[in-house]
Parts: sequence; C-alpha cells; structure tokens
Amino acid sequence: MERVLEPELMEDLEQVFAYAKADFEQPHKKFVQRIKTLVKDSSFSGKALDLGCGPGDISRRFAKAFPLCKVDAVDGSKPMIDYALNTISADLQARLHFIHGKLPDVELPELHYDIIFSNSLLHHLPNPQVLWQTIKQHSSTGTRIAIMDLLRPRRLYMAESLVAMYASTEPKILQQDFYNSLLAAFTMVEIEAQIIQARLSLTVEQISDRHVFISGIAS
Ligand SMILES: C[S@@+](CC[C@H](N)C(=O)[O-])C[C@H]1O[C@@H](n2cnc3c(N)ncnc32)[C@H](O)[C@@H]1O
Repeated sequence: MERVLEPELMEDLEQVFAYAKADFEQPHKKFVQRIKTLVKDSSFSGKALDLGCGPGDISRRFAKAFPLCKVDAVDGSKPMIDYALNTISADLQARLHFIHGKLPDVELPELHYDIIFSNSLLHHLPNPQVLWQTIKQHSSTGTRIAIMDLLRPRRLYMAESLVAMYASTEPKILQQDFYNSLLAAFTMVEIEAQIIQARLSLTVEQISDRHVFISGIAS
C-alpha cells in the first residue's frame, strides 16, 4: 500500500503525554542493547546525538548505559522537549542536553558526533533525506550510526493486526498514533534506496514483525 503521511511533529499535549507514558520497555531496551553491540566498548566515551528524541526515554537509557558519553538530544516539538526536561534526573543533567529544534534547520552544538542514533523519527519525515543528510553532515570517520524505525505493512489489515497485537491496552489516542505511524513508515526497499541515494554505507535489517534496524560505522 502507498505511504500515508502523518503530522511531522508531535505537538498535541494529550498525544505527548500518552506517548511519554506508553510502555516501550521492550523495543527501547532492545534498541540500546543493539547500540551496545555496535559500539562493542562499555567504556565508550564521546559525543552522542539522539535525533527526534521525543520525551527522552532512549536518550536517558543511552546516557545511563554509557556513563562517559555526553548526549545532545533534539526534537522539533516543544511539548516533547519540555516533558524531557521536566523528567531528567539530577545525575544526568550535566551530560544530557535536550534541544528544541527542527531538522534540518536546527543548529546542533557539535559539528561531528562519535555516535548518532534515532528511533522512530524517519517515518515522521515527509522527506526522509532530512535524516540521512543530517547524519552525513554530523558524522566523521568512525562515527557509529544506529537507527530504528517501523516498517510499513503491505496491507491495511496487517496494520490493524499489529495495533491489536501490541497496543490493545494502550489509550485510544496511542493506538491511533501507532496505526498512523505504520501507514507513514517506509518499506525495506524504500529505505535501502534512500541509503544508496544518500551515499551512506549502512546495513538494513528487519529485526521484528514491525521494526527495521539500520546501522554501521562511517568511513
Ligand atoms: C515517534 S516519536 C519518537 C520519539 C523517541 N525517539 C522515542 O523513540 O521514543 C518521533 C519524534 O520525532 C519528532 N520529529 C518529527 N520530525 C522532526 C524534525 N524534522 N526535527 C526534529 N524532530 C522531529 C516528533 O516531534 C516526535 O517527538
């Protein structure tokens, strides 16, 4: 089925709170685990960038997993960044910075980062090259890149089944968001073409019935 865009930024307060309180324990934990496998070094230090950080759950998990890293986390939604700022614990404040700004126009504090990661931003972008070009601009040789996103199912009924399977106990607004996100997501073939177009050398893997993981080390 064709891609159906959803609103790019998540700015509705009810939507922000529902998203922030949703149970993403399994996918977010597994995403950070995959980042650890990619990095291969628990004492990894350096500058990290989280693109489309939302309420900051993955930014916080990453900062805890890599206590020597400094993290810049950016989102175009003011309510999302406010939520992240209001829930950051005192021990992370010195090295986790939430930045309100929309890609591609936001000015990031660093020119280059040692690791760039992003979860569930790609499907929000009308133009997916915004993500890939931001990664290109802010990486240098050795930068680790880890991106996770949803995959668009082939048929509408498959999107309905995924919502029933994974979000039936969540509030209606979150179920609708998840459904809209599945319809706005890209397919494996589309993502592979985007990466070729961006001249990035990244591996694209389907890692669950609804997730894709795109990773690599910049050369
Ligand atoms: C589905 S949420 C993912 C949040 C977070 N990464 C997570 O996994 O929980 C997508 C986020 O991307 C943000 N976003 C969408 N387009 C953006 C852009 N062009 N620049 C910055 N943030 C953007 C939205 O506001 C939203 O907070």
